[in-house]
Amino acid sequence: MKRVAVITSSDKGFRGEREDLSGPAVKEIMEAAGYEVVSVDVLPDDRGMLSARMAEIADMGLAELILTTGGTGFSQRDVTPEATEDVIGRRVPGIPEAMRAFSMTITKRAMLSRATAGIRKGTLIVNLPGSPKAVRECLEVIIEALGHGIEILT
Ligand code: MTE
Repeated sequence: MKRVAVITSSDKGFRGEREDLSGPAVKEIMEAAGYEVVSVDVLPDDRGMLSARMAEIADMGLAELILTTGGTGFSQRDVTPEATEDVIGRRVPGIPEAMRAFSMTITKRAMLSRATAGIRKGTLIVNLPGSPKAVRECLEVIIEALGHGIEILT
């Protein structure tokens, strides 16, 4: 079974000041697509903590896929793409390109997402934007190709 780990980047979610709706949205969509969701973490927008968790999941072989949500925009605290770039060996630019191309037909603000994707060992890491709406829209475009990519990877 394909395994996915979900990481929400949110200072407010981490502090319990805001209910995380995006992580559960990712979980629900991936379970419906036949994935086993091995973990759902809510972490602060902290580059070191985010990259450490991503590296741990990949290096321990806990999941073939890591989906992050949030922290891809312009605010000073948005560091998810940088944390991802810190740990990936190979970049996969086509995935964020596809998400932005499709999302641009829904909102021009999609161009503001700095989401990235890449591979560390046997794990593909993909950044999704932070709202449940954006999560649904972006996963809709990439989910089928993700499955194929992971099969080749493992
Ligand atoms: N992509 C889709 N499909 N739908 C959306 O509503 N919102 C955008 C963009 N991508 C959006 C989207 C907005 S408003 C921002 S600021 C960026 O994602 C970054 O979001 P983040 O900082 O929550 O990751």
